[in-house]
Amino acid sequence: MAEAMRYSLLGGGKRIRGALILAFYRLYNDDVEVCLPFACAIEMIHAYSLIHDDLPCMDDDDMRRGKPSSHIAFSAATALLAGDALLTLAFELMSKAGADGDISAERVCKAIYCLAHNAGVSGMIEGQAIDLMLEGKAAETKIVERMYAKKTAALLTAASSIGCLLAGAGEAEINAAEDYATYLGMAFQITDDILDITGDEALLGKRIGSDSVRDKRTLVSLLGLDEAKTLADCYTAKAIEALESLSGDTSFLVELADMLAVRDR
Ligand code: IPE
Ligand code: IPE
Ligand code: MG
Ligand code: MG
Ligand code: MG
Repeated sequence: MAEAMRYSLLGGGKRIRGALILAFYRLYNDDVEVCLPFACAIEMIHAYSLIHDDLPCMDDDDMRRGKPSSHIAFSAATALLAGDALLTLAFELMSKAGADGDISAERVCKAIYCLAHNAGVSGMIEGQAIDLMLEGKAAETKIVERMYAKKTAALLTAASSIGCLLAGAGEAEINAAEDYATYLGMAFQITDDILDITGDEALLGKRIGSDSVRDKRTLVSLLGLDEAKTLADCYTAKAIEALESLSGDTSFLVELADMLAVRDR
């Protein structure tokens, strides 16, 4: 099990969610090391979501982060359990940070709640369920947008909020961070869907054309490539605008949004 967990967790990836926790915390405090259990935890939850997302009963993808997907490298049962174990370990790690007393128990509880809420049935899982439900179906833009907000933006929102919560930021700052992440997440998923068509498998590290094979509903399938790209750029601009009310040095967050808009992986 440890080998399968390490294979997916430590085998590459952009680490955006962990980085967002650190970046938002750093707007308020320098001792970012206290955030590491939370940054690791959110990357564990993200890695589990990818292992399960690739399973034959979900997207049935055989390549992830430039390597065979977990269920190909190991077995479907091992992949299922490795995902379950990473999800559970995330909560073990965060609660241990609270028990060790590096951050106040109140802040840790708020952070754990935020991650659980955004990763669960009101967040990422809801989005994944909508994604599967819409396969092969006609869909309105609105439900596809909800799917993106949940399956992708929710975890990015959790990351941004957690950075603020751990730093003891106020409600207005948390709201601005959440706005940034929500828009970033919408742009991020549109770009993911564009890359599924126009990307280079070797750079992307996953198969292209997977969405059309599964007859997925995406904003690209509804709007076409050009309009979807325009929409993604619009969301990126809104994300950057949301940072304006924050007083710290947000240059990394601006660069991150700009960089993700033109990514090839
Ligand atoms: C892929 O996320 C899944 C989506 C939400 C689109 P990333 O593109 O962040 O995956 P890694 O971690 O870099 O592999
Ligand atoms: C995945 O969306 C979102 C998750 C929560 C894992 P996709 O199914 O489009 O992600 P990829 O393209 O497989 O990485
Ligand atoms: Mg999927
Ligand atoms: Mg997938
Ligand atoms: Mg995709």
